[in-house]
Amino acid sequence: MSEYLTLLRPDDWHLHLRDGDVLRDVLPHTAERFARAVIMPNLKPAITTTALASEYRSRILAALPVGSDFQPLMTLYLTDHTPVTEIDRAHQSGFIVGCKLYPSGVTTHSDAGVTDIRKIDLVLERMSQLGLVLQVHGEVTDLNIDIFDREHYFIDTVLAPLVLRHPKLPVVFEHITSSAAVHFVTHTRTRVGATITPQHLLYNRNEIFKGGIRPHFYCLPILKTEKDRIGLLAAATSGNPRFFLGTDSAPHARHTKESACGCAGMYSAHASLELYLEAFENAGALEKFEGFASKFGPDFYSLPRNIDTLILQKKSWIAPASYIFGSDEIIPMHANQLLRWQIK
Ligand code: DOR
Ligand code: ZN
Repeated sequence: MSEYLTLLRPDDWHLHLRDGDVLRDVLPHTAERFARAVIMPNLKPAITTTALASEYRSRILAALPVGSDFQPLMTLYLTDHTPVTEIDRAHQSGFIVGCKLYPSGVTTHSDAGVTDIRKIDLVLERMSQLGLVLQVHGEVTDLNIDIFDREHYFIDTVLAPLVLRHPKLPVVFEHITSSAAVHFVTHTRTRVGATITPQHLLYNRNEIFKGGIRPHFYCLPILKTEKDRIGLLAAATSGNPRFFLGTDSAPHARHTKESACGCAGMYSAHASLELYLEAFENAGALEKFEGFASKFGPDFYSLPRNIDTLILQKKSWIAPASYIFGSDEIIPMHANQLLRWQIK
């Protein structure tokens, strides 16, 4: 007997689409599942102005499958030199929902990011006044700090002081990966939330090294311990509205990952909801999925919840070995592996 799960249509609150021809390769996966997605601005060159965000948004809309009413929610990439007037323009645009803090050097295309958080205090103050969300990649960039501790250090040295210095600023701690982050988000002031990816709910760091080095399990922040994974799963399935869905699906051409210095990022857009459902079902918490996927995100961003629904069916399928990505290909999460749920 088939089992169905009907959800208010979900949104993805953290997504990388890239640009150019490959948009057409990856966008349909997201548009099939989600009504909206928050689009990360770490292109080369980065989306640092409202004008660049507007052009990027138009290219995304033009690349959508015919008939799709998917809405990209745009973000600005903060730099040491972002002017306060740019925050005003972003707010007035009506299509920019937040500004992304990449500590400079922390991850893919973050070299133009912020070198010292104190340099953007005025920008953050203006964002607080306007209610614009700050999306944070929460890791310190000091390479002397152990890679598995960089999120924890960031909380203590940057994020905790920041949320006190800007007590009204809405902050999303993106793609959290540790029990320390769960603890921080649970206990800090109001208007601080967090997104959680499918990979951090499904895997721990052993996966990167199973029988050899596996570059398709390398993302940033890096997968952590099993204890951390269990803490994240407990948070995602808790019904606490501070925790919501953000896939961080991040496509990279296969040869740039299968390399002596491989890029960070895992591609999950082809089966994002299906992957989350594996995790929620394993935790016996399917009834908690709709809040996490469809309600808490729009509530945090003060946007209306979607009104249509999406049906998922419990029917096994095998995720493809690869997808076309321009002239190359992407190796998706769970390539060649069985998934228990599919969208109807
Ligand atoms: O693994 C990651 N990939 N983490 C990030 O923060 C950026 C992303 C990307 O853009 O590829
Ligand atoms: Zn990301």
